[in-house]
Amino acid sequence: MSVLLSDYLYQQQQNYAVTPLLPEVITSISNACLHINREIRLGALDNILGSAHTGNIQGEEQKKLDVLSNRIMIDTLSSNPAIAGLASEEEDSFVTANSDGQFLVLFDPLDGSSNIDVNISIGTIFSVLAKPTGALTTESFLQCGRQQLASGYVLYGPQTILVLTLKHGIAMFTLNEQNQFQLTQKNPQIPATTAEFAINMSNQRHWQPAMQKYIAELLAGKTGNRGKDYNMRWVASMVAEVHRILMRGGIFTYPQDNRNPDKPGKLRLMYEANPMSLLIEQAQGAATDTKQNILDIQPCGLHQRVAVVLGSKEEVDYVTAMHQAN
Ligand code: AHG
Ligand code: MN
Ligand code: MN
Ligand code: MN
Repeated sequence: MSVLLSDYLYQQQQNYAVTPLLPEVITSISNACLHINREIRLGALDNILGSAHTGNIQGEEQKKLDVLSNRIMIDTLSSNPAIAGLASEEEDSFVTANSDGQFLVLFDPLDGSSNIDVNISIGTIFSVLAKPTGALTTESFLQCGRQQLASGYVLYGPQTILVLTLKHGIAMFTLNEQNQFQLTQKNPQIPATTAEFAINMSNQRHWQPAMQKYIAELLAGKTGNRGKDYNMRWVASMVAEVHRILMRGGIFTYPQDNRNPDKPGKLRLMYEANPMSLLIEQAQGAATDTKQNILDIQPCGLHQRVAVVLGSKEEVDYVTAMHQAN
């Protein structure tokens, strides 16, 4: 018998001490993503491709779909009274939703913007936190990744897939013909070893010496000290890379870049690194900024960026050791 997202959320409540109303928050997120999915599927037919000719606080040019997805997330989530506040890659500061709400939702409404116009997999990434008591301020959101109550993503690829953790393993749902998320896989385990890596090689000259050395070792193949031939993949959508790693292992990194010493990496701690790291840990993988476990980083700003290395545990540990030996 098929298990839908609603059944799964009910089962989680029966089996674990799930925070009351958290399932309703997840339902609102999934409803927003269903709406985003409909827009994406229509593409040029719905005039949603191309640039919005605006910029965001990240210094990025916004695509129409970045703006539209952000609007859909904010409108849908604000209508859930359990949600107190929102933070988004596309908003300068946090958004106040409902004064009596108990939850905060942080999101990257559209991940993989450079792939929108070329019909390559993109996604939405989300993180749920409990709202601390008192007035809602930026500090309310600055909780370390371990404090997340839930996280996940929706991958808009050949199939639309929701991947979710309420911190009791991972569940993967495929959008069925009735437009419902139907459970298709539970608790994927990332193999500890791998021979597949993902990095934007075009930035090589900007990497720090430890990352230069690590990638050179992988490229040396069988005759090098790693003793095996490595394969490379780079989709340029973090959702797609993380999904591949959950399905078959691998290592993904967006390392520190010497171009801008104030920004230790490209990816955002609150909207990308934290939610993905929680999923990776729930699947026996590891996630680090090369200095510490990503989930232990105390955030200092909503839009904070971090270096990210995540995936198969032995490979992540190897990279970390190389950085520490440096
Ligand atoms: P976003 O589209 O939300 O700004 O995020 C894009 C991120 C991430 O998805 C991906 O891993 C990386 O940027 C791709 O960067 P490059 O374009 O430098 O390859
Ligand atoms: Mn962006
Ligand atoms: Mn992103
Ligand atoms: Mn984005």
